[in-house]
Amino acid sequence: MAQPTPTKVDMEKIVSLCRRRGFIFPSSEIYGGLSSCWDYGPLGVELKRNIKQAWWRAVVQERDDMVGLDASILMHPQTWEASGHLKGFADPLVECKSCHLRWRSDDLQGNNCPSCGGELTEPHLFNLMFKTFMGPIEEQASVVYLRPETAQGMFVNFENVVNTTRKRLPFGIAQIGKAFRNEITTGNFIFRCREFEQMEIEFFVKPETDKEWFDYWIEERLNWYVKLGIKRENLRFRQHTEEELAHYARECYDIDYLFPMGWAELEGIANRGDFDLVQHASSSGKSLDYFDEETKQHVTPHIIEPSAGVDRTALALLCDAYDEEPDEDEIRVLLHFHTDLAPIKVAVLPLSRRESLVPVAKQIYADLRQQWMVQYDDAQSIGRRYRRQDEIGTPLCVTVDFQSLEDEQVTIRERDTMNQIRLPIAELRKALEAKLGGEPLFALPPGGKIWKEG
Ligand code: GAP
Repeated sequence: MAQPTPTKVDMEKIVSLCRRRGFIFPSSEIYGGLSSCWDYGPLGVELKRNIKQAWWRAVVQERDDMVGLDASILMHPQTWEASGHLKGFADPLVECKSCHLRWRSDDLQGNNCPSCGGELTEPHLFNLMFKTFMGPIEEQASVVYLRPETAQGMFVNFENVVNTTRKRLPFGIAQIGKAFRNEITTGNFIFRCREFEQMEIEFFVKPETDKEWFDYWIEERLNWYVKLGIKRENLRFRQHTEEELAHYARECYDIDYLFPMGWAELEGIANRGDFDLVQHASSSGKSLDYFDEETKQHVTPHIIEPSAGVDRTALALLCDAYDEEPDEDEIRVLLHFHTDLAPIKVAVLPLSRRESLVPVAKQIYADLRQQWMVQYDDAQSIGRRYRRQDEIGTPLCVTVDFQSLEDEQVTIRERDTMNQIRLPIAELRKALEAKLGGEPLFALPPGGKIWKEG
């Protein structure tokens, strides 16, 4: 059977929607922006919070074998020597002799400058770590780095976690936090930024079980994206070749997403072996062994690392959820977000601004926002308000009309199907809870009816 052709949305449409509706803005825009840095607006910040919450729930809250950590961004500089980042975290950089633009030589197709066609310099290695100074004196001794990955905070805390939690192998540490890389080539919106957020797991296992846990995490992580609504045909695995393996990795698979610019990495799952614990033990002089109670032997655990990006996940979700449907003379733009991810879960819409409707609608709004992110919108026609909510991915709208004042019932309207159902206000919270919890279309209340918007 022929494979379905994955649909690719135009990146311009995503960028424009994000800007127009307050998901993502260029950083410090009033000063002309700062290259490859982005600010998440009122809806973007909710989307990001929901992504992180879904990840934390899946990898920490619902598991016995994982604990969380929040290590500081600035770390002892020796960390980066031991980790190999001072020496090895570099990309080959070339500069155009005419226009002086700089490029990653391994990204280039030909031998000349892609911008002006000029001659390029020989490549030299460019370290991607941002440097800063700790304390009031800017001297070599006070140099510290903005972490380029959150992972090292988990390795250096391995012993603290073992001693305070009494976790036994296999177990993992999970962390969400900012990372910084002075990327040579950036672009494709939030795909490659210089400041971004990672969601990383360091999963410590007995050395002889690394292969089985590596396979386990590859499957587990792919399933997480699918559960959150990303179409399976837009995801694929890609194994790293020997040449592209990071200096710490024995084996690595990327989970790629079919972004508008093509297939690209969403998450990497690496088998880091014992590289990190051995390096930090030797550099710090502290043993980072683990005592195996069963065999009564000291072992150095091996590490499986699923490392995801919050920003790339947000971009993949936006691209995957984006849809356009013909709608009479216009086009209905909608984001089919999973209910767990939608920035706004419910919109409360009084049919008009007439005074009589306001107290009922405001009371419903006040009640629902105790539980969810809810918007109150009374501007323009009801049709326009539905479209506004569709465009930001709000799964459900509650409409309060004049009849509501008499029968104490309201209408719920569903984003994807545009089906509507009328039910008693007293039943509303329960019905929304069921629907937002993933139940199929509402069961009809006694005497209730479902109809289509139009
Ligand atoms: N600790 C392993 C590690 O950092 P990585 O493949 O370099 O591995 C992991 O990064 C994830 O972090 C990537 O899959 C991507 O989602 C995200 N990421 C890396 N660099 C990024 C950048 N410049 N901008 C946005 N996200 C980035």
